Amino acid sequence: MSVTRSFTVAIDGPAASGKGTISKAVAAHFGFAHLDTGLLYRAVAAKVLAGKEPAQAARDLVPHDLEDDALRTSLVAQEASKVAVIPEVRAALLDFQRSFAARAGGAVLDGRDIGTVICPDAQVKLFVTASAEVRARRRFAELSGKGVQITLDEVLADVQARDARDMGRADAPLRAAVDAVTIDTTEMAIADAVAAAVAMIDAKRENLI
Ligand code: CDP
Repeated sequence: MSVTRSFTVAIDGPAASGKGTISKAVAAHFGFAHLDTGLLYRAVAAKVLAGKEPAQAARDLVPHDLEDDALRTSLVAQEASKVAVIPEVRAALLDFQRSFAARAGGAVLDGRDIGTVICPDAQVKLFVTASAEVRARRRFAELSGKGVQITLDEVLADVQARDARDMGRADAPLRAAVDAVTIDTTEMAIADAVAAAVAMIDAKRENLI
């Protein structure tokens, strides 16, 4: 397949489902660019926590804003799911995501609404999920490994609150696109999920040649 053509992989799913890890691995495997769209909402949230108006914060966002380790905290994640409910915030972030997806050479975007709203014509759509308990345990291990003081119960409450907000909002709610393939990682090693995703993308690319 020519590298001058665009090829979009849309990976959606709830918090700590493994979609970020799968997206990074898939992008590295195929040499595609990767955009973690959650970082856009987290960066807007960080600016809102610093006092900015949400829609203005979204319009003012620059790529450099995404390179901040402080975006990974639970506080920012919660605020991200609050600003993500606001239609003006989502609208302000749309063009950047679509241009990223259309770049030559292939792109992987992960988030909540990539297959449904941002890239409804993506060549491959995956919906990565897992039980809330397993996702909370994964996020707890990740945060504890970074030295963050938090309990498993707090992480579970955070994950459940965000799931409810992300699935319940009117604009671009979290759900699988009708043509997405679901990968449930509750009892699956992430390496196996990556292998399944790579096989699916390979099959699609062969059909396009
Ligand atoms: O890494 P994790 O899955 O915990 O969260 P994230 O992907 O960084 O997303 C943080 C929050 O941003 C989510 O809870 C959503 O509310 C929001 N988000 C969204 O609304 N749409 C996206 N495409 C990506 C994230």
